[in-house]
Amino acid sequence: MPTIVSHIYEEPVKHKVVDFYALIEPMKVLVATEKPFAKKAVDAIREVVEGAGYELALLEKYTDKAELLAAVKDADALIVRSDKVTAEVIAAAEQLKIVVRAGAGYDNVDCAAATERGIVVMNTPGQNANAVAELALGLMIYMSRNTFKPGTGKELSGKKLGIHGFGAIGQIVGRYGKALGMDVYALSPSITDESIFEQNGAKRVATAEELYSTCDYISLHIPAKPQNIKFVGKALLESMPKGAILVNTARKEVVNEEELAEVFAVREDLKYATDIAAASQAELNEKFGNRVFATPKKQGAETAEANYNAAKAAASQIVDFFVNGNRKFQVNK
Ligand code: 3PG
Repeated sequence: MPTIVSHIYEEPVKHKVVDFYALIEPMKVLVATEKPFAKKAVDAIREVVEGAGYELALLEKYTDKAELLAAVKDADALIVRSDKVTAEVIAAAEQLKIVVRAGAGYDNVDCAAATERGIVVMNTPGQNANAVAELALGLMIYMSRNTFKPGTGKELSGKKLGIHGFGAIGQIVGRYGKALGMDVYALSPSITDESIFEQNGAKRVATAEELYSTCDYISLHIPAKPQNIKFVGKALLESMPKGAILVNTARKEVVNEEELAEVFAVREDLKYATDIAAASQAELNEKFGNRVFATPKKQGAETAEANYNAAKAAASQIVDFFVNGNRKFQVNK
C-alpha cells in the first residue's frame, strides 16, 4: 500500500492512502471443464484473460456438480466444454454475465435460463471443426476396414458420401471426401447460398430421404435442436443402400436408437460408428458386435489444435464482449 509522508507536524506522520483500484474486484473468468483442455490451451486462455487484467479460476476434472455450483458463485464469465450449465448452475452464478461454450454444440447450456437472467451465451463456431471432420473420415475408414479385424474391407474412393448438416464441420468433411475420390452429396435446408455446396465439393440434395437412399456413407453434422431429436429413424435407415455406414460425430440424441436396433436386426449389412455412445450402447454392442462402434470417450474435438483454437477464441470473445460489447457469436438472441 503506498504511503504519504506528511511534514506538517514536527514529527513526520504517515497517512495511509486508500488504493481505490485495489478495492475494485477484477473480473473473474472461470474455466470449468470436466474434460480439461490441453495445457497449451489453458495457457492461451490465461494469457488473454490476465492480459486484460481479469482473474482466471480453473475447475478441472470435477466429479461432483456441487464443485461447479460453488465455483461459479463469484464468476463474471464462464468457459465450458460439454459441461452441463443447467438452470441450477445459472442460479448459483450470481455475478455471471457471459457463458462461452468452447466448441460448436451448445445443447449443454440452458439458454432459456441464461436469457431470463440477461446472461449472454456464445459458442466458438468452426474452431474445432477440422478435428471433428478428420474423426468422421477416420471412423468411415475404421468401419470400412472391419474395425481392423482380419478380413477384406472396402475403400472410400468411388463411393457416395452423404453429409447431413452442412455447417463448418460438414463443409470440411465435404472437401476431404472429395479429395478421397468420393461422390459427395449434402443436405442443409438453412443454407441459401448455393455456391457453398460447390465450393466444398458437394452436390445439394433437397431431402433427407434422397440423401439416405442415395449414399453409401452418411456423416451426421446436425445440432441437437428439438426438430432434430431422434431424426434418424427407421424409414431413413431402412432406405440406405446395401452395406451403408452411418457415422455420428454430432450428438447421440439425433439418432433414434431403438429404431436403429430394430433396423439393424433385419439389415445385417448396415454399420454404425458414433463418437457419442448411445444410451443403449452396451446393448447395441452385444447385439451387433463389430457392426457398431462407439469411441470410449468423446474424441471429436480432442486434439491439441482444436483445444487451443476453441479455448483461445472463448477467452478472446469474453474480453471482446466486456471491452467492446461484441456479441457476434451470441446464440441466445
Ligand atoms: C462440440 O460441440 O464442439 C464438440 O462436440 C466438442 O465437445 P467437447 O468440447 O466436449 O469435446
